[in-house]
Formats: sequence, C-alpha cells, structure tokens
Amino acid sequence: NGKRRPLVMGNWKMNGRLARNEALLTELKAGLASGFDAIDVAVCPPAPYLGQASKLVAGSAITYGAQNLSTEQDGAYTGEVSSGMLTDLGVKWVLVGHSERRSLYGETDETVAKKTQVALEAGLIPVVCIGETLEERKTGDTEVVLARQLDAVLPVLGSQPASAFVLAYEPVWAIGTGLTATPEQAQEVHRFLRDRLASSGYAQAQEARILYGGSVKAANAGELFAQPDVDGGLVGGASLVANEFIGIAKGAV
Ligand code: G3P
Repeated sequence: NGKRRPLVMGNWKMNGRLARNEALLTELKAGLASGFDAIDVAVCPPAPYLGQASKLVAGSAITYGAQNLSTEQDGAYTGEVSSGMLTDLGVKWVLVGHSERRSLYGETDETVAKKTQVALEAGLIPVVCIGETLEERKTGDTEVVLARQLDAVLPVLGSQPASAFVLAYEPVWAIGTGLTATPEQAQEVHRFLRDRLASSGYAQAQEARILYGGSVKAANAGELFAQPDVDGGLVGGASLVANEFIGIAKGAV
C-alpha cells in the first residue's frame, strides 16, 4: 500500500482527566518525536479536553480529532457540539458513526451520512466507522451489512478526494472484547470495501485510507497493518496506555 500514508488514531472514548491526559500526551509526544515521519498519528479525546490536547500536542506531529459532531450548525441544540466549534479548536478529524454511537445513541445510516457531510463542509476529515455484529457475521451477512453502511455515505464521499475522508472497519465483535479480526479477516473486508468504492465509480479508491479497529494492540498491530489494504488502525483501549499506543504506531512504520 505504498500509495497510502498509514494513520494510527487513538479513540479515547469517554475516558480521561486533565492530569491523566497531560501525562499520556507528554509521553506520546516524547515517544513519537522521531522515527514516525512516514505515518500520521492522531488522538481523539473527549470534547471537553480538545482544547487541552491542542496545547499539549503543539509543536509535535500528533494531530487530534473529535469523537462526534452535531448534524446542526450553532443554535438552540442543548448538549451538542458543532463542526464550527471543532474547527475553532484546530480539530483535524472527527469520528462519525462509531458502533457505540449507532448502538447506544440511535445513529442511523442517514445520521451518519448527514454528519459526514457536515464534517466535510467544515473542512474536517470524517473517519467514517462501519462494521458488522457477531450475529451478522455468523449469519453470513457481513458483506451485506458493510455494503449498506458504505453505500449510505457514498453519495456524500463520492465527490471528495481521497485525502478528505477516512474509512474505519470496526467489527463490533472485536471492539473492547480482546478478540481481534485475524489479519486475513481484516484484509478480506478491507479489499471488499475498496473494491466496492471502485465499483461505485469512485476514481480514487486506491488512495482512500481504510483503518482497522477492534482490539488492536502493540502485539498484533504489525501483522494487521502489513495487509495490503489495511492502512493503519483506530485504537480504543490500547490508546490510553502510552507504550502500547507507541508500539502500535511502530507497527505502522
Ligand atoms: O474506535 C476504536 C474501537 O472501537 C476499538 O476499541 O478498545 O477494541 O481497541 P478497542
């Protein structure tokens, strides 16, 4: 995958405190200071800590993203965070359609498409997450589900250069479970997704980055990222531990 620059992104989920974030980001900054020029590294702290992250990663190559955004622009939307607020804080990426947002907060394919569009319009890079449940995999519906989730965002992504968005394949059964997709399972799905991008008429399918997420650890990152269509990882639990996350980034170099 010589054409595509690997991306290793930490999704902190709803974890963090000022002191802990400072310690983690300080360690990451030091540990990633040299030898990582060939990859992109990013962290996605909870929204209240984006300002803190911006200060702590200043002067390093680490970028930061948000975990969610509103479909709306500023106004009477209590509890929501707008794309304009994220860009104001120097945010580069935003996760969209994470399985936890879909399963716990009722986000539909339509919501995900709308959020993707709002992110793109603001100049944020949406990291669009898709993935099948264990049940869906067992019944042989993995590709049907992934096709549906991908097709929902294709009308929005289709007009964009590959640099404007990222896809993340996160099999729900591998998230936070310690069960990782095998490199072969990941590659099979990533190839399927890239082929579907191409067959939909998208001209830059070969340039589009597709991350794997689901129990990525320092110990399995290298073999996952070595797959031809796996362009890095979206990391949950292991991104909260500096040495693990640095080890994962090494797996992408
Ligand atoms: O977005 C990352 C994710 O859902 C994977 O979480 O804890 O299995 O690495 P984890």
